[in-house]
Parts: sequence; C-alpha cells; structure tokens
Amino acid sequence: MRSYTLIAPAKINLYLEIIGDRPDGYHELVMIMQSIDLADKIEIKSISSETIQVHCNHPQVPTDKSNLVYRAAELMAKKFPEAFAKYGGVDITLQKYIPVAAGLAGGSTNAAAVLVGIDLLWNLGLTQSELEELGATLGSDIPFCIAGGTVIATGRGEQLAPLPSLDHIYIVLAKYRSLEVSTAWAYKTYRQEYGSGYLKDTNDLAARAAAVHSSAMVKAILDKDTAAISQQLHNDLERVVLPAYPQVLQLRELFAAQTDVIGTMMSGSGPSVFAICASQAQAEQVKLQIREAIPDEDLELFVTRTIAQGIRVA
Ligand code: C5P
Repeated sequence: MRSYTLIAPAKINLYLEIIGDRPDGYHELVMIMQSIDLADKIEIKSISSETIQVHCNHPQVPTDKSNLVYRAAELMAKKFPEAFAKYGGVDITLQKYIPVAAGLAGGSTNAAAVLVGIDLLWNLGLTQSELEELGATLGSDIPFCIAGGTVIATGRGEQLAPLPSLDHIYIVLAKYRSLEVSTAWAYKTYRQEYGSGYLKDTNDLAARAAAVHSSAMVKAILDKDTAAISQQLHNDLERVVLPAYPQVLQLRELFAAQTDVIGTMMSGSGPSVFAICASQAQAEQVKLQIREAIPDEDLELFVTRTIAQGIRVA
C-alpha cells in the first residue's frame, strides 16, 4: 500500500492590509505571509475502496465534509476521476500541533498537504502552479501554504510573489485554546466599520497592491533586517479583533511590554498573537515571562522560528 507523510507548516502574517472589496464578495488584500516551524503531520495512503476517510487526534477537528482536508481530497477525486478509480480511495490521518481557528492557516495548510500528497500518490505530476490554482478554489491561503517561505500575497491572497526567505527569526506565539475568531466575522465587521474608506477604482487598487514591492517592510525583508521588519509589522484586522476580544488585546500589550520583544502583532484574523525576538534564548525567556504573568492553562505558548518552505514530504 502506497503512503506519504507530509509536513504542513503554519503561517503568520507579517503584514495584512485590506484595500478594497472584490466583486466575488471577498476583500482585496496586500499581505506578506511567512511560514513558521510549527507544523501538522499528515499521513495519506491509498485504500482499496473508492472512499475518502479522515482521522484526527484533535477533538475539535471534524472528520466529515466540513473539514477542508476532506474537500481537498474530494476535489482531486472529481478533477482526476481516472486516477481515483485506478488507485482507489484515500485515507488521511491528521496529527494536529497547530492551534485550531487561530489565524495560523492550520486548516489551509492541511488541505495544501492533501493536494500535494494526492498528486504524489496518484503520480499526477502536477506543477506547483497547477496545485496552487486547485488550492485557490478551496481557500485563499492554500496557494501560499503550498509554496511557503516569505511571500507577498495580493488579490484574495492567492496571487503570490516570493521574497528571499527569512530563516531563523525567532517567534513566540500565544493562543487561548478556547478562544476562536471567525475569519468571515472579522472581515465582515471590518467592512462595516471601515468599508467607506476602501479604494473603489480598479487602477487605484492595482497601484496600491503594486506599491507593496517598494514598501518599507519589503525593503526590511530584502535587507534581512529583523529590527526593521519588527517595526513594520501591520495587521488591519487588529482594529476589529482587539476591541472585541480583551484577552487578545491583553496578550498583545503584554508582549509589547517585554524588553526582549522587538515587535508583536496578531496573526491573520487572530486570535493568536506573535512576538519577534532576536534569539532563541530570548524567545524562551519571553515565553516564561508571559507564562508567569498569565498562569491560565488555557493559554498555549510556543517558541518557533521562520522557515523557508511550505508543504514538504517527511
Ligand atoms: O478563503 P477563506 O475560506 O480562507 O476565507 C474565509 C473568509 O474570510 C471568507 O469567507 C471571507 O468572508 C473572508 N475573506 C475575505 N477576503 C479575503 C479572504 C477571506 O473577505 N481576501
């Protein structure tokens, strides 16, 4: 029986700007996404019956069609019916390490791994851009999760322009286990509160998206200047999530008050918050300080680092 084990890393947003509405109901975004070492493990194998089976060690993760992983396998079966018939069904086992509903693209990176895994399992020989195109039909962050590294993402988040990778920047990540923020809610609330300021003209939207290439953040990344990157962190969604979730605001303020933290920001639609530190030792120290300040067991804390790739075979 053929099987593959894939490593599916989480992401953080170093930059997230909402610039306008899209005709498809989504938002035009300008983001800089970064893969981190915190990753899930996905085992995928062929089975004799033409079915899709999903297993997961995490009680909060559904194993039915509501799981993006199931939908990714279903999409591949629909797109490649001959391969599905030839190789049989797929059995997928998810080992979750990435916090769920955290703004870290946990679900998207799992789905990305399934697309890559089935491509290998069925000898389809798809190119990375073909896989990214399939991924974009399932979720805006999936193309990035396939590619990984340090990437400018525009449009819905699916148009990618890679940057030189930022390896070995140390990150402390914090997430309350029981706290979840709906991405759809965060964007909808942002539109209600700030939509009047959106750019409307297609040319203005294109110009704003293009301007990111000459932004201070991209310059800092090209210079591999961690201090400058830390100063340029930005996330528009903080404007709606922080006021609505006092625990997230408290975490954000606590990180900012640590002397060893050189920059801090909420990731994606939250509620996870990350902090950049100059060394692993300092990151470990910050983790201890946060744990001391918030002894609540519901708070999960990780020390991780930036990495240069997305989905990989273990
Ligand atoms: O694409 P994905 O399923 O990850 O998006 C989740 C939700 O986030 C969407 O349903 C939409 O409400 C919002 N979103 C958006 N604009 C984007 C990406 C996501 O409004 N570019």
